[in-house]
Amino acid sequence: MTNQTKQMKKVGIFDSGIGGLSVAKSVLDSKIFEQAIYYGDTARVPYGVKDCKTIVRFALECLDFFAPHNIDMLLVACNTVSAYALETMQAKASFPIVGVIEAGVKACINALPNKDSTTLIIGTKATIASKQYEKLLANAGFARFVSKDTGLFVPLVEEGLYEGRGEMVLDSVLKFYLEEFLCSPALGGVAPKAIILGCTHFPLIAKQIDRFFGGQSVLIHSGDAIVELLESNFNLHKNSFSKTNIDFYASSDIEGLKKKAKIWLQ
Ligand code: DGL
Repeated sequence: MTNQTKQMKKVGIFDSGIGGLSVAKSVLDSKIFEQAIYYGDTARVPYGVKDCKTIVRFALECLDFFAPHNIDMLLVACNTVSAYALETMQAKASFPIVGVIEAGVKACINALPNKDSTTLIIGTKATIASKQYEKLLANAGFARFVSKDTGLFVPLVEEGLYEGRGEMVLDSVLKFYLEEFLCSPALGGVAPKAIILGCTHFPLIAKQIDRFFGGQSVLIHSGDAIVELLESNFNLHKNSFSKTNIDFYASSDIEGLKKKAKIWLQ
């Protein structure tokens, strides 16, 4: 990836649905851009259970959505799309397209004290099957990682079953998926040093995941990671604007998306 000299004012943020709002929050908080256009393909979410060909086709159709919006850059705020469709999208676009996986791996490497450190990667079925996080971590010299498809967290977050009485449901799903990693030999019998939240819904349950592992791990959040990457690889700066305005678009139920945005982007 090369440094960019063109001024980046207008950013597109694309996700399969509402999960990318967690990335939008980090982007808005950073005030790197003047204007953001969020598009969620809410009519076809979830992508994480679909095959590679379908994910690429959907991603390219969503890329077309941004054509009339004259964006300077597109952030793919979806791990599943970043895993399967990023290069195909980049080949078709006239502006830079940045995914969350490269960003997450970079943030993970920065957070880990040494190459012996252990990492747990969680994500959708498709993201975990792609092994993209593992490949990039291995390329950087890390060998001690495990991954787990924890796709059921996606509807739990969408349904809001992570707070109040809903936390009961989340607690049992957390146990179901992650208990084996509390003292897994692959992780040296202790909590992982880093946990990559490899799905943009998961930052919403970061607190509960952190608590499950006893607060001993660094959690890697796609949104914060992409902001770090924009600063380091694109020479973009936080607080370049006093505020980032955002417009929302969706392929279905735009009111539902706006309602979630009001809550999540607080
Ligand atoms: N936003 C997606 C991701 O980060 C999760 C939702 C989906 O399966 O489409 O992978």
